[in-house]
Amino acid sequence: MSSFFYKPLAADESGELFEETRRRRTHVKKILFHFVAVAAFLYGIYLGTSGLLKLSGKRRPCHGPTNLNSTLPSHYTLPSGDKIPTVALGVWQAARGEVGAAVSSALKVGYRHIDGAWAYGNEAEVGQAVKSSGIPREDIWITSKLWNTFHAPEDIEPALDDTLTKLDTPYLDLYLIHWPVAFKKNTNEVDEELTANPYPTWAKLEELVDKGKIRNIGISNFNIARIKNLTANPLKYKPAVNQVELNYFNPQPELLQWSKENGLILEAYSPLGSTKQVKEALNVPIVLNISHRLGITPAQVLISWHVKRGTVVLPKSVTTSRIEENFAVFDLPDDLFTKLETAATSHPPQRVVNPSQGWGLDYDIFDENLPY
Ligand SMILES: NC(=O)c1ccc[n+]([C@@H]2O[C@H](COP(=O)([O-])OP(=O)(O)OC[C@H]3O[C@@H](n4cnc5c(N)ncnc54)[C@H](OP(=O)(O)O)[C@@H]3O)[C@@H](O)[C@H]2O)c1
Repeated sequence: MSSFFYKPLAADESGELFEETRRRRTHVKKILFHFVAVAAFLYGIYLGTSGLLKLSGKRRPCHGPTNLNSTLPSHYTLPSGDKIPTVALGVWQAARGEVGAAVSSALKVGYRHIDGAWAYGNEAEVGQAVKSSGIPREDIWITSKLWNTFHAPEDIEPALDDTLTKLDTPYLDLYLIHWPVAFKKNTNEVDEELTANPYPTWAKLEELVDKGKIRNIGISNFNIARIKNLTANPLKYKPAVNQVELNYFNPQPELLQWSKENGLILEAYSPLGSTKQVKEALNVPIVLNISHRLGITPAQVLISWHVKRGTVVLPKSVTTSRIEENFAVFDLPDDLFTKLETAATSHPPQRVVNPSQGWGLDYDIFDENLPY
């Protein structure tokens, strides 16, 4: 071999020249050794990372803890201009004593949206967890809901103040009318008049927006007929969102389509089928099939499907690993998304949450044909 370093030497060359050549050879060996060591090290890192990703079955999420691909929205912009984060931690049925830890875990993972309600009975602990996270209040989106017993205009501000005190915050990002059913004070008896005409309730909520105690107002569990019944009034602020049940069993494609056409964001509650049906939802064949094909979990398939449908999604969990899992959203390929959408909308819808009977109503709250 002939090169600058391996110059052939004549037999009669001096010992000095021989020493110089030996030095050069040692130097070259050192350089080659370092080069090979660095290359081997980098290759090792590459193999290790890809192996781990395969083993854990995890792909990189498009937003969430490792926000590497932004093809799906991480926020939606509401009529007020406020940006509501797409994925929230739901805290219904998150018991006192465990809800605070769940909120803390979620905030650590990267959630910036907590979906709560006065009726969940856990607002004080949620508020403490938010405070102790040290994250500035303006960086966290907090939703609460006005319970049925407080729809009378004079009862709304005290109910809101109670929520604000418990959450230990001067304002809510979003306050929803929890159900389109008003109860008479301190009872579970329906107030027919206030249920048929929710405008006085809405007008009071608008006042509280102007007062700075709420940034956005919205509705929950309203079907199209009930939304029209409300928006037929001269509203100062239109509903920012409608929070409704949306899951594999009850995907409500008509409501989703209508809401898109009318610029109303839907929030998907019980997105995994709620405690009652989460097991069935995570074992639906098409959900399992997509999960295997993409190397993501069934819950991630369902949550990603909701985001691709264009809704906010509110999975609830008090389990740290699931809280983290649920925050990883993936942009499902169009063909797989369509397969899941078709499967979800091809069977008779079945609601998971419907308190009509429990409240002793002789009608279904969700009936589109109810007269008002
Ligand atoms: N506006 C309304 O009237 C209304 C009604 C219902 C719900 N909501 C809102 O929507 C939120 C979510 O609804 P939801 O609580 O009914 O049901 P959900 O989020 O569909 O399901 C929650 C159940 O799924 C389990 N789970 C969560 N992630 C999982 C995962 N990755 N793998 C396996 N299991 C998992 C939870 O268990 P663990 O907690 O034990 O992990 C819990 O049992 C509520 O918390 C609330 O904020 C609103």
